[in-house]
Amino acid sequence: MEVNYLTGIKPTGRIHIGNYISAIKPTIEYLKENDNKTVYFFIADYHALTGNVNPSELNFYTKNLMVSYCAIFKYFENQIFTGKNNEIYFYRQSQIPEIFELYWILSCYTAKGLLNRNHSYKEIVENNINHDKDPDKSIYMGLFNYPILMASDILMFQPKYVPVGKDQLQHIEITNDIAQKINHYYNKSIFNYIKPKIQDNKFVLLGKDGNKMSKSNNNILPLFSPVNEIEKCIYSTKTNSKDEGEPKYPEESNISEFYKAFATNNQYESYVNDLKNGISWKQAKDTVLLEMENQISYLRRNFYYYYMNNFRLVKEKFEYNEMIIKSEANKMLKNIKEEIGMEVL
Ligand code: TRP
Repeated sequence: MEVNYLTGIKPTGRIHIGNYISAIKPTIEYLKENDNKTVYFFIADYHALTGNVNPSELNFYTKNLMVSYCAIFKYFENQIFTGKNNEIYFYRQSQIPEIFELYWILSCYTAKGLLNRNHSYKEIVENNINHDKDPDKSIYMGLFNYPILMASDILMFQPKYVPVGKDQLQHIEITNDIAQKINHYYNKSIFNYIKPKIQDNKFVLLGKDGNKMSKSNNNILPLFSPVNEIEKCIYSTKTNSKDEGEPKYPEESNISEFYKAFATNNQYESYVNDLKNGISWKQAKDTVLLEMENQISYLRRNFYYYYMNNFRLVKEKFEYNEMIIKSEANKMLKNIKEEIGMEVL
């Protein structure tokens, strides 16, 4: 099966607008604009394990993502599937053991030095050193090898594009480096190279307090939380102390980035104008909440909660898709094992 688009989200927190912008929205746009495309959309649950999450949280966040995937793509069904030959497959990485077999093969061609240069790993090492700690403190092999598992997720299915946030670009480069090393070693084109589809948002999506948005800290704007939690999140977003009437600029608060996630270009432009003309931060936040609710509340009520209450349907969809993906992975792995001389014929 030819895969055009593949992307995954880690179940380390509730699904948030960072996921929406970097993975979900581009996939929906892609399917809207194209026909005859196949998309793989998975849950990177073994990647979540690198954060040593507790079992009940991992379980809850996985369920949250499974339900969210079903809800969102069902909601857009008419625009992306009806009358077209587009297809989407959902699966949990952990249900496809072939990915971990390929992971081992890839690891045998991944230079340690390549992973030493990985930003997230380097950041922890530097932080340890700056605090006079052992450089290896709290570094587990799962975290160090994270990029190899990601390469395996991708190379297993040879997608044309992988839509990711800007922060993931290095992982895609590492994936291509590993692919190149193997192609070179066997002097054959075993793997295709992958094109990242970096979102044209010129920012890595920021959280409420201005730090990088990540599900691992509590610094998120969740997509499907009850509206009072979303309100709390929006109204507690940091701003400066400018009053109503004073000109304001989008870069003065991340609230503008949140708006950008939901607004059209025209809406965003007029919002920037309003800020310049001195609307209050409170009014700016009202606008964001209104637009977000406009787009999400129906989806949350009629799809997200529907699937939460009928989880059996979600589970069936995943299990059926996982059976198909597993057989695709099996074929791919068999080919690779043949190429490397592992399969005795
Ligand atoms: N590392 C990605 C993130 O943190 C998640 C991920 C794992 C992924 N495997 C992937 C994304 C493969 C795209 C393709 O967001």
